[in-house]
Amino acid sequence: MELTGKTAFVTGGSGDIGSAIARALAVAGANVAISFVGQQQSAAATVDAVTDCGRQSLAVQLDQRDPASIDATAAAVHMHFGRVDILVNNAAWNIGIAFSDIEALDADVWDRMFETNLRGPYLLARAFAPHLRKHGCGRIVNIASAAGLFPGGSSMAYASTKAGLIHLTRCLAVGMAPEIAVNCIAPGLVEGTRMAQRLPDKVAQSARRQSWAVPQVRRTSVSR
Ligand SMILES: NC(=O)c1ccc[n+]([C@@H]2O[C@H](COP(=O)([O-])OP(=O)(O)OC[C@H]3O[C@@H](n4cnc5c(N)ncnc54)[C@H](OP(=O)(O)O)[C@@H]3O)[C@@H](O)[C@H]2O)c1
Repeated sequence: MELTGKTAFVTGGSGDIGSAIARALAVAGANVAISFVGQQQSAAATVDAVTDCGRQSLAVQLDQRDPASIDATAAAVHMHFGRVDILVNNAAWNIGIAFSDIEALDADVWDRMFETNLRGPYLLARAFAPHLRKHGCGRIVNIASAAGLFPGGSSMAYASTKAGLIHLTRCLAVGMAPEIAVNCIAPGLVEGTRMAQRLPDKVAQSARRQSWAVPQVRRTSVSR
């Protein structure tokens, strides 16, 4: 992959997978902006890793539950780099609530999950669309989860947001073609990540079992 001269924006670049994605994009030649919410030091470490590759980088604080902040972030990233070619919708929030514990999954948890994991990626795609369209070959990559393909994962709300994100990917791919290609990745449990560590044992074990089933569906799913 050759991305010299391109600019990417990776949400949740202070997290484990977002940081790895930012580094990989920088190795491929892209300048990379990232967002974070509270983990400023982790965000700074990702920025350092990108600049160590000889690329430009920027960390922006963004709570993507706030629509106005999303619009401001898109404008700030574009102003800083002069172009944006790739949006990676990676940021997400989860909490471990067993599917059987319906009482614990209340309206506040549900709404926070959907605002962060589904509405946020849509509003980010919307805010970045004019910039991604400009050069005729924009890219959006949404990071979903195997939990969006099977009824499993950290909670019913998390699984439902990821199922929604997979379908949103299809809808955006139709709506944004041909200037912007929209794709989705649905990883299984990634051991050693903060997100995986937040899961209660029982939930993690079920997510591990689910991960084994993923390769069979990967071929049939979410590409544009
Ligand atoms: N880890 C896994 O096993 C696994 C498996 C399948 C799919 N995934 C998906 O992969 C992606 C990355 O996961 P990860 O393991 O890297 O998680 P992580 O380490 O917990 O990172 C999550 C990122 O999202 C950010 N974030 C949380 N709430 C936010 C909000 N309201 N607004 C904006 N950003 C917010 C966090 O910011 P701060 O750190 O600054 O708070 C952090 O940068 C997620 O979409 C996740 O669902 C992960």
